[in-house]
Amino acid sequence: MSILIKNAEQIEGIRKSAKLAASCLDIIEPYVKPGVNTEYLDNIIAEYIADNHAISACLGYSGYPKYTCISPNEVVCHGIPSPNTILKEGDVINIDVTTILNGYYGDTSRMYAVGEISEKARKQIEATKHCLDLGIEQVRPDNMTGNIGFFIARYAQAKGYSVVWEFCGHGVGVEFHEEPQIDHIARKNSGYKMRPGMIFTIEPMINAGKSRVVIDSNDGWTARSIDGKLSTQFEHTILVTETGYEVLSDIHDEYPIT
Ligand code: MF3
Ligand code: CO
Ligand code: CO
Repeated sequence: MSILIKNAEQIEGIRKSAKLAASCLDIIEPYVKPGVNTEYLDNIIAEYIADNHAISACLGYSGYPKYTCISPNEVVCHGIPSPNTILKEGDVINIDVTTILNGYYGDTSRMYAVGEISEKARKQIEATKHCLDLGIEQVRPDNMTGNIGFFIARYAQAKGYSVVWEFCGHGVGVEFHEEPQIDHIARKNSGYKMRPGMIFTIEPMINAGKSRVVIDSNDGWTARSIDGKLSTQFEHTILVTETGYEVLSDIHDEYPIT
């Protein structure tokens, strides 16, 4: 088992790829509307990735058939874009993009509201974003990766939500899924010691009901909450710096370094 410490050249390559993935999440926003199907959204992002001289890390990954993952409502993750999945008013969806640019991987996802959504859904989206932010706050040299999941789960559970444990954050950059695994529910001070140059995702999946997920037996990918209740997620690619962190997949605040 070994966790890669990335050098300056690798970090710059991963930063560029992560920012391209983030810009996919921006350019798609105006298209997320009632009546639109998720394959259409996938195609727009596919074209944008190609225009930027990159490729999707998802397409062909363990046989995955599309460019992005688009996960509506009770879908926890790995929703396969489809012409038959048509967005309707009140839906909430996650779009997850992983790009490969010059060989480097960037991985990020966010939530979108389709038209007007319920107050309950809006609150869950806000809480999930806060979970990601609490996880990011734990990123600094010598802190333990388990503290990311400890603070995420403590907040989520206090708000009455459950945390999915079947899917985790992961080292990323030179490969799609590298070590370490980043748990979103963990014991304090468990896991690995963070070191400058490590790059990993934090991507908490937060459920309104039970934490368990069921994989669709027809497509082998789509993960749904076992009780059909709303599941929400945000994901960033994070670099451990000498003093704290840099959110590599942030394009709104270029250098949010603590
Ligand atoms: N982007 C997802 C993640 O955050 C992984 C998707 S794998 C795929 O790790 F094959 F479903 F695309
Ligand atoms: Co990821
Ligand atoms: Co992802």
